[in-house]
Amino acid sequence: MQHLSDPTVESRVNAILAQMTLAEKAAQMVQVPFAYVTEEEAFLWARRGAGSFLHVMGEDARRIQREAMSTRLGIPALFGIDAIHGHGLNRRAAIFPSQLAAACAWNPALVEEMGRVTAREVAADGLHWTFSPVLCLGRDTRWGRIDETFGEDPYLAGELGAAIIRGYQGDDLSDGEHILACAKHYIGYGDAVGGRDSCDTEMTFRKLRETFLPPFARAVEAGVATIMTAYGSIDGTPFTASRKAMREILRDELGFEGFVVTDWDNVNSLVEKQHVAADLDEASLLAARAGNDMMMTTTAFYDSAIRLVESGKLDEAVLDEAVRNILRVKVRMGLFEQAMDRGTPECMGCESHRTSALLAARESVTLLKNDGVLPLDGNTRNITVIGANADDIRAQYGDWTYFTHPHMSTEAIPERPYVTLLEGIRACAAQSGASVVYARGCGPLFSETDDLDAAIEAAKGADVIVFAVGDVIEQAGEFRDRADLSLSGRQEELFLRLCALQKPIVTVLVATKPLCLTRVTESSGALIAAFNGGQYGGQAVAEVLFGEINPGGKLPISFPRHSGQIPVYYNSLPGWHGERYVDLPETPLFAFGEGLSYTTFAYSNLRVDQSKLQVRVTLSNLGDHKGSETVQVYVRDLVSSVLTPVKRLIAFQKVLLDAGESRDVVFSLKRDDFSLVLPNEQRLVEPGAFALFVGGSSKDSDLLRLDIVLA
Ligand code: BGC
Repeated sequence: MQHLSDPTVESRVNAILAQMTLAEKAAQMVQVPFAYVTEEEAFLWARRGAGSFLHVMGEDARRIQREAMSTRLGIPALFGIDAIHGHGLNRRAAIFPSQLAAACAWNPALVEEMGRVTAREVAADGLHWTFSPVLCLGRDTRWGRIDETFGEDPYLAGELGAAIIRGYQGDDLSDGEHILACAKHYIGYGDAVGGRDSCDTEMTFRKLRETFLPPFARAVEAGVATIMTAYGSIDGTPFTASRKAMREILRDELGFEGFVVTDWDNVNSLVEKQHVAADLDEASLLAARAGNDMMMTTTAFYDSAIRLVESGKLDEAVLDEAVRNILRVKVRMGLFEQAMDRGTPECMGCESHRTSALLAARESVTLLKNDGVLPLDGNTRNITVIGANADDIRAQYGDWTYFTHPHMSTEAIPERPYVTLLEGIRACAAQSGASVVYARGCGPLFSETDDLDAAIEAAKGADVIVFAVGDVIEQAGEFRDRADLSLSGRQEELFLRLCALQKPIVTVLVATKPLCLTRVTESSGALIAAFNGGQYGGQAVAEVLFGEINPGGKLPISFPRHSGQIPVYYNSLPGWHGERYVDLPETPLFAFGEGLSYTTFAYSNLRVDQSKLQVRVTLSNLGDHKGSETVQVYVRDLVSSVLTPVKRLIAFQKVLLDAGESRDVVFSLKRDDFSLVLPNEQRLVEPGAFALFVGGSSKDSDLLRLDIVLA
């Protein structure tokens, strides 16, 4: 975090710490879950000097803060919330595409803006801290939280993570318009075996450093103020208890200067779930020693910490260090000067914020197949829209919006404006004079209202059918992993019946994750991945359908052909013994980096200046539409002492070209981009030959290759 080691900040922190009693220090390390305590208890915690509260907004937060400020030392509390793709727990907020959807834009400036807007709205609600971004890698798509990731690649996740952190935190945390970011979940959470939320990982520290650490290293470099510990474990040690992960790697090596917060009740889970501690005292000892500074929801840590220090089991210096880490952030944020009434209340859901959400939605639309049906032309007079997800704002918003959050009403609907796919199509069709008929048909879950016959009837008069498929929030999120990613409910059955009508079908995936769309892809004229596009997700897809915008999204994650093919991420280690399953190719249905445009891009003339590690390629727009292309650079270490991935993203640039335009795209690589991690966990570059690949996706057929030698 910027200037944390500022001596004036340090001396102020030390002066406060010197006045604190043991109990006040223990309280500072506790984060209280507002929804799980009574009002009286919340005030009691404020008076004790709890360091933070989570999931409390507006007037409740103000009352708690007043109580905290009226204590002996008047240390302000931090209020944290899960503002994951916009300040989603406020129904007036601007809702952006999910992290996964936003990642399709491959545009750091766009996610930085998403962070900036979210920060303004969170701050305007009296809060200081978002538990975002998720820097877990989405490598097993069965996992329920795939939508929260920036996809499967460490480099892309790191670049986007750093950008959104810059957006949340700005240059000056004390300006009232910015908030604390929290890089989570440190570490390996997304790699749980079988995609099962919170389960064990098959991680080693070498692998962790090679693949999972780089996004967190970028976050620390970007100055992230807080980091959240993962559930799960590494080689038998829960991450919550891993001194190596938190003290040696995060603090000593990466130089992290903010504070670490556990995830939900991690300390208690050492006892109740992971069984590595007999009781809460033992668990608190493990957690504090390992380097967790603040304990989310485990309020019992307070008594344990006091007991542990008083009995001589825990050195008070461990508490001092944790409290120092927390106070430093509070001082830097200017909370002692102004803990309340920060920010600009009028900005909540304001027009300029909503415009940012719309721009993000537009850039995130990813066209995966197009046999010429898109963009719809003037001959398209009758459009039939089918599928519950075409007109279900909950499905479009996805997770972490106020009506999907456990503490909020699941019945309520968000405040307008928002635009579903159906509404977007209707608006565009009104301009082109086409007629639009809608039939729900079915949704992702079986329902008594499913009516396939009515949908088929409605589609009979169509020139084109737009079929929205996907999932709903009941099939995703924490605790909700899926074993089977094929289309659920009666969606595939309906699709096959629609195919029998022999009309062009445009399939739109409105979902939290890649689903297995093998059959659907074969028989669709066009396929679009929209994921959870936020409040304007439907409008953005409609504009693409009608050619009002040219899609430029690229997948940040691979699509499996079948659930049995998972994991199918592109940067795997080399194997041999055949290139396919007996019953399936080994390639994904759609690869990392893939995404089409209404224009055609060509790559030529790949060259490299080895002395400067400068790579240059000519990109040409051969079509008649202006369009953007994300140029991707991958590397393969041709001979290395440990196995290295078959291909690894090391750079990318998004380029906008006019029809007929050509441009040289230049990348300045760093020597470290070619590094690997040895069995002794050391990162270095082994001299020798490397293959560089440049092109429009991770697929071999989309890449030019050039080999270089590094001395
Ligand atoms: C999740 C975190 C989240 C926290 C607070 C946990 O269950 O794993 O990602 O920030 O709850 O809501």
